[in-house]
Amino acid sequence: MEGSIQTLKLRAEEILEQLTLDEKIGMIHGNELFRTKGVERLGIPPLTMSDGPCGVRADFKEREWIPVGNTDDYVTYLPCNSAIASTWDRNLAGRAGSILGEEARGRGKDVILAPGMNLKRTPLCGRNFEYFSEDPFLTSQLATEHVKGVQSWDVAACLKHFALNHQETARLEVDEEIDEEVLRDLYLQVFKDVIDDANPYSIMSAYNKIYGEYCSQSKFLLGDILRGEWGYDGFVVSDWGAVHDTVKAAEADIDCEMSVTYDFDDYKFANPLKEKVLSGEVDEALIDKKVLHILILMLRLNMIGEDRLERKDASYNTMAARQNCLEIARGSVVLLKNDGILPLIRPVIKEKKILVIGENANRIHSNGGGSAEIKALYEISPLMGLKSRIGGSTKIDYLPGYCSKIDADMTPEGTNWQAISLENSGGKSAGEEKAKKELSEYRKKIREEALSKCMDYDYVIFVGGLNHEIDTEGLDRKDISLPYEQDELIEALLEKRPDTIVCMIGGGAVDMTKWLSNCKALIYMYYNGMEGGNALAEVIIGDIAPSGHLAETFYCSAKDSSGVSLGDCGDEKLVHYREGFDIGYRYTCKHNIPVQFPFGYGLTYSEFELSDLQLKLNGRILKGKLENKGEVDATQVVQIYRLADETKDYISLVGFEKIYLRAGGIMDFEIPVKDKSGMGKYAVGFDVLHLQEV
Ligand code: BGC
Repeated sequence: MEGSIQTLKLRAEEILEQLTLDEKIGMIHGNELFRTKGVERLGIPPLTMSDGPCGVRADFKEREWIPVGNTDDYVTYLPCNSAIASTWDRNLAGRAGSILGEEARGRGKDVILAPGMNLKRTPLCGRNFEYFSEDPFLTSQLATEHVKGVQSWDVAACLKHFALNHQETARLEVDEEIDEEVLRDLYLQVFKDVIDDANPYSIMSAYNKIYGEYCSQSKFLLGDILRGEWGYDGFVVSDWGAVHDTVKAAEADIDCEMSVTYDFDDYKFANPLKEKVLSGEVDEALIDKKVLHILILMLRLNMIGEDRLERKDASYNTMAARQNCLEIARGSVVLLKNDGILPLIRPVIKEKKILVIGENANRIHSNGGGSAEIKALYEISPLMGLKSRIGGSTKIDYLPGYCSKIDADMTPEGTNWQAISLENSGGKSAGEEKAKKELSEYRKKIREEALSKCMDYDYVIFVGGLNHEIDTEGLDRKDISLPYEQDELIEALLEKRPDTIVCMIGGGAVDMTKWLSNCKALIYMYYNGMEGGNALAEVIIGDIAPSGHLAETFYCSAKDSSGVSLGDCGDEKLVHYREGFDIGYRYTCKHNIPVQFPFGYGLTYSEFELSDLQLKLNGRILKGKLENKGEVDATQVVQIYRLADETKDYISLVGFEKIYLRAGGIMDFEIPVKDKSGMGKYAVGFDVLHLQEV
């Protein structure tokens, strides 16, 4: 049971006194890939961790990166954090956290390595799908509820990656050069807000460097700021393999070293640290401090002593989790364009024919992305979602139209993909060329097939975008263009069938400028969990009105993002944050840079109107009325921004609320305005570009 920190400390100290140096050393480093050593004689269990954030990851063998492969680690697959962010719904973020916590507890894990908390500094980062938003306020508001949800199950959330892990390129060594004020007030503040409001029991230090020192051994970051100024008393774990120097990391206030190799006794915090203590080079008191943090964590989670009997019981794969997943997924689908095409309502499409085109209609995403991969109990694809909703009464056919690679089952006659790859091993470059040509020809063939059939149907739905070969740990995108020759297909498709409903799935902005103006109906859906396909289908057929809003700017090109154009990112080993505070929409708004869709944007099947807006309590509350003027029950996100002025020269989100209203309904609202820097000028609207001043 979480007691006062003083009580916990006293109890932890009592246990600490009984531990030998060897036992303490065992507790502060990985003894398996996701577990430390316990101390059996004192009833201290090992500490067991698991990834996060889209669900609880499948089990690996204790000492090998080989999945155990049993049938007991299928789990609920949650919408990714970017999808959660596009709900703009604190309650749904909390429910997602609660599922994650309950399933982690049900699977016997103590620490779930989630949520990913880094801001989307550029649209290129391969792990952006694991992060919430480019906006610090939206991120911390949603992450706070998420963490509370996780920890309600006696499982620790672990905020990651502390700090500045904004790119995957050279992530293990890249050094971040940043103005200290920007570091503190923008990037660290997001973590601090969640620490203050949700008390996350653990935090993961990042791989990259900051001011020339690895984050995982930075005294400045972990010792001075996190432990010192913020007084953080939780558990600090290194990212896997982020510790390089025994003494530096020991002194930097990291509690536990985890890594990716199997030489557990040679980890820096294993024999090397023990030797340093025995030789007097490192004070044993440093080890004690780490063990104390681990014992406090265990007490908080009811892992030791009599409290064990009070630890929450939990299940995984419950029906309730699936239902919640569906509701989160429903809340996150973003309608970007609708020129009278959507929804395709049931009575109208009955006995009609729909052609669904695009690999992403028929693809699942849960099993990719790096450490965020999940062994999902199931994942409803868009094709399955549509068929399961209307398949009996509407004829639905599928054609790939484009492909990421040649699928063995789709091999064109006379071509054997395996044979090509064998040929490749003989003469590499010639083989590669041939394979490239084959792929291009194959893409042309399936594109033409889709284009020739598209006129035979009453409706055409295209589902494309990205996948986890692109949105993945360890890799960044080079630009935001659509891969696999999708532009060619969509352009031609829209020419023949201007009524095509275009759906994009991915982890961030894609460049749609080549065909955007010709497109009449456009939906964006982030990797949306096991029920994603159902949620998308429900939006298309109008079972629900869409209510997602973008939690990031959809730039026209990557170069329009300040992180790319002003700062550096990419191959360089030293990155300059020259953009300062001007992340995301702050930069595009300041310089009037055109975007495909602005931060906060999202349409629905109804119209809303704001009225009677007024600030109360010295600007701490915004009061007003919201009216649903349409004929459909729907949801709107009221967003409050502080406008740029002399004291803060960029616009920033300072309040929001998601409000559901029945058709014709009107409601008074009061929304807190969170603006630490005092009174400013505020404006209200449904996205950052369409605002009215109050
Ligand atoms: C990732 C972490 C993850 C860890 C354990 C690292 O490569 O950066 O986010 O939690 O592996 O799988």
